[in-house]
Amino acid sequence: MTTPEAELTTTLADPQANSTERLISIDLTVNGRAEHFSIPPWVTLLDLLRDRLDLTGTKKGCDHGQCGACTVLVDGKRVNSCLTLAVVRDGADVQTIEGLSTGDTLHPMQQAFIDHDAFQCGYCTPGQICSAIGMLREGRAEGREGIRENMSGNLCRCGAYTNIADAIEAVQDREDAR
Ligand code: FES
Ligand code: FES
Repeated sequence: MTTPEAELTTTLADPQANSTERLISIDLTVNGRAEHFSIPPWVTLLDLLRDRLDLTGTKKGCDHGQCGACTVLVDGKRVNSCLTLAVVRDGADVQTIEGLSTGDTLHPMQQAFIDHDAFQCGYCTPGQICSAIGMLREGRAEGREGIRENMSGNLCRCGAYTNIADAIEAVQDREDAR
């Protein structure tokens, strides 16, 4: 029996697999690269990134908008990509964890997470980092409590919250960290 996941992967790999499916053309800029897709309207941005572009740094945790593991930056703002239909973001600029570094130089937020040992298993980390950058851009996080409050949508099953807050606090005043 074919599972829903297998059907999704098949359809994403071969858009013509179900010829009765209505496909929609969209353009995205992903990590600075122009990309064109022809996809069913129900495909999420998360599945598009992972299954079509092989950008598996963005993680699927709950797939229901509850954990933040899938956080990416769309037109500079943090979004849960599991709740975002890709067709709705036609023309958008998408940045994932893979697009944050410049050559061999990590983004200051990535470096801060390493410097402050802000992860254990690392599964939530790409979402935490993208969310932290988006949060600093929003300019709403004041002090330690502000960071904790505004990062509360990103869960960490390993409980690395103290070190995550340390990392963000260390770079929160740097312009190049947002
Ligand atoms: Fe998107 Fe959990 S996978 S919020
Ligand atoms: Fe393991 Fe956050 S580091 S879930």
